[in-house]
Amino acid sequence: MKGIVLAGGMGTRLYPITIAVSKQLLPVYNKPMIYYPIATLMELGIRDILIITNPKDLPLFETLLGDGDKYGCSFQYIIQDKPRGIADAFIVAEEFIAKDSVALILGDNIFHGNGLSDINIDKLENNSGLIFAYRVNNPNRYGVVEFDADGNAISIEEKPKNPKSQYAVPGIYFYSNNVINIAKSIEPSDRGELEITDVNNHYLKAGKLKVQTLDEGTAWLDTGTFSSLMQAGQFVQVLEERQGIRIGSLEDAAYKKGYINIEQYNKLISK
Ligand code: G1P
Repeated sequence: MKGIVLAGGMGTRLYPITIAVSKQLLPVYNKPMIYYPIATLMELGIRDILIITNPKDLPLFETLLGDGDKYGCSFQYIIQDKPRGIADAFIVAEEFIAKDSVALILGDNIFHGNGLSDINIDKLENNSGLIFAYRVNNPNRYGVVEFDADGNAISIEEKPKNPKSQYAVPGIYFYSNNVINIAKSIEPSDRGELEITDVNNHYLKAGKLKVQTLDEGTAWLDTGTFSSLMQAGQFVQVLEERQGIRIGSLEDAAYKKGYINIEQYNKLISK
């Protein structure tokens, strides 16, 4: 399975701090934001990763992360020239995905906990999708999934005014290779974007979408507002200081997964 981190966009909701620099390069406590989603993919066993950025900031991401070799991974970069929506990532990344299945994570989403660790990415059914549902206080900021009495997803709406449930769809998605054609087949929404929610509804209608609820013990944080950015930093600080762990560390993820050995790890962290 290939991995994509979408780090495009203008970050206008965070102006003026994102006028000169991409949102995904901003610090979340002690690491650049993009470390967290990359570490999440690496922890899932995904080592072949494409980073989609805006044209201006691509060299900065390259300076920060390089070709991934030092983490025992491969990082590639590609430009999304205009923010055409999340689903556009599959069109931009068509050559990179080639014949494989693909995981997409948004460059400003932070996950922590065991909720994602039991996913078996090799067991994705043919022509299907796997997404998550997470209970939040303010679902209208997100894609919202509605369940029937048996817990089956019956609808997904993008930023609805009157959400049908409290369950938001976090920014991590797993799809079979046919997602490229699905992304090409959908029309831009009223805000002019190819919506990931439309891709998910396509799978849902075909009976090919699995929606797994992330348990309450798992943290999903987004960093799209001043307040949530601040909270994400504080969350990382509290857990790291209290538990003596590192969250979103590429070095730790690479070593834990056996992508690098102890000598390579020591060399990396010595800096
Ligand atoms: C996007 C998606 C939305 C999803 C959210 C997760 O929203 O459109 O469905 O729930 O990411 O962070 P946006 O980035 O437009 O706020």
